Amino acid sequence: MITIEENKMKDKTALLESKIEEAKIAGGKDRIEAQHKKGKFTARERIHFLLDDGSFEEIGMLVTHRSTNFGLDKTKFLGDGVVTGYGTIHGRLVYVFSQDFTVLGGSLAEAHAEKICKVMDLAMKNGAPVIGLNDSGGARIQEGVVSLGGYADIFYRNTLASGVIPQLSAIMGPCAGGAVYSPALTDFIMMVENTSYMFVTGPNVVKTVTHEEVSSEDLGGASAHSTKSGVTHLTYANEMECINGIKTLLSYMPQNCEEDAPRIPYEMGNESRPTLNTIIPENAHQPYDIKEVIAGTVDENSFYEIHKDFAENIVVGFARLAGRSIGIVANQPAFLAGVLDIKSSQKGARFVRFCDAFNIPLLVFEDVPGFLPGTDQEWNAIITNGAKLLYAFSEATVPRITVITRKAYGGAYDVMNSKHIGADMNYAWPSAEIAVMGAKGAAEIIFKKEIQEAADSEAKWKEKEAEYAEMFANPYNAAARGYVDEVIKPEQTREKLIKAFKMLENKVATLPKKKHGNIPL
Ligand code: HXC
Repeated sequence: MITIEENKMKDKTALLESKIEEAKIAGGKDRIEAQHKKGKFTARERIHFLLDDGSFEEIGMLVTHRSTNFGLDKTKFLGDGVVTGYGTIHGRLVYVFSQDFTVLGGSLAEAHAEKICKVMDLAMKNGAPVIGLNDSGGARIQEGVVSLGGYADIFYRNTLASGVIPQLSAIMGPCAGGAVYSPALTDFIMMVENTSYMFVTGPNVVKTVTHEEVSSEDLGGASAHSTKSGVTHLTYANEMECINGIKTLLSYMPQNCEEDAPRIPYEMGNESRPTLNTIIPENAHQPYDIKEVIAGTVDENSFYEIHKDFAENIVVGFARLAGRSIGIVANQPAFLAGVLDIKSSQKGARFVRFCDAFNIPLLVFEDVPGFLPGTDQEWNAIITNGAKLLYAFSEATVPRITVITRKAYGGAYDVMNSKHIGADMNYAWPSAEIAVMGAKGAAEIIFKKEIQEAADSEAKWKEKEAEYAEMFANPYNAAARGYVDEVIKPEQTREKLIKAFKMLENKVATLPKKKHGNIPL
């Protein structure tokens, strides 16, 4: 027999269920269909694919906005356009917010912002990453300054959380206005090709102000931000790949700045890698692909490149060495001869700082002819920007190792994690050339008079070039001074690095007491 109390509870449960149903349908079937037609998942589908099965716990499903402006009181959606909560990825706790474009274009206002802040606060207190799945038309225009306040509340939290917990931002739709600045404050931005955009002001405003005609894709699509601006670190062909990318990226990171990244158990075996012996070309002016060196050194298929299409003269990314997560920074001789310029310095510096903040040891492969000369570089502040990389390496306290594969010229020698700025171990291959500059340029400067006065100045130049090369185009001067700890055969690289990183496992290094440094921004 059903009691009156049970009946009442049944009614109440039915009301709850109908509210849950309403929240799940969000902006309605038509808008969900429109979302699918664009090749996009809904906010809830994204969370479903991202988190371990059944692990999602939603927070704030029944939150609504409190605005009455412009008839908004008649347009209330449960959840207010963002799904928030927590769950696990590969068994590890994460906090997540997923903006729902079917509700007022995923626009952000007071209640929506409060929900995001709530999960960010929980993430900070509990030391776990925050993942933002962004799909938003920016500040909710009807709510005015309250929306701007909501954004600022999030920006503030992003900033305080920076370096404490990893923050990842996936851009999965149009993100305009304020919607781009929260991602910009996070550690990594990933975009989906053809369906995601980021801009402070869209094409219409651009046309009005600067008279430029530009499409959304050209202005702020994945391609523009992965190649031109460098705003996005990773791009993916579709949302599912992006979601899988988030999971992969997280696997290299610790939960917070107090922890180490997860390790995969590894048994040492034959760590010799003879393929490394044949990568450097005979002629020092010939390019080669540093990614072959990386792939030949780290655990098989473990290299996950970041910022792949931006400033390709430097390569950065995560990898595993004997199961342990490491960050790699490498000059790329196959692109602009691996020269350091403004963009590559910025790219390298940002990556170094992420790794250092989250206890991920750094491995540097060095083959760099110096800094890129020219008015463009000087007038756009290569001095300030190059200093960023120098600063980032200098203040990094994680275990740091450099392998000089070929050129280590000029100031770039100092910058690329030299012993002088705190690297723990420095190896050089026999092909290393550690000098102030290349032999040809050096001979021209220091033997200028002799070359000019010689009967055959071309022959004299060559002779002097050979003389300089003989003296400096090798690793042995640096090794004699201890600037290089060991000259190793390429095939020994992996084994040496595994042992050295193990030796450095308990490294303790601290910076002088300060409020914070003043990196040349
Ligand atoms: C309220 C919005 C909205 C917004 C979109 N919508 N943006 N509602 N506030 N900011 C609503 C639309 O009215 C529509 O409602 C639904 O979302 C879908 O929008 P559409 O325009 O139909 O979609 P689409 O053609 O795909 O274009 C998406 C878009 C465009 C590119 C995002 O909507 C757009 O340009 N929106 C405005 C962007 C913007 O200027 N935002 C403010 C930035 S200022 P219905 O009911 O029809 O489904 C800002 C300041 C913060 O953010 C600064 C902090 C630093």
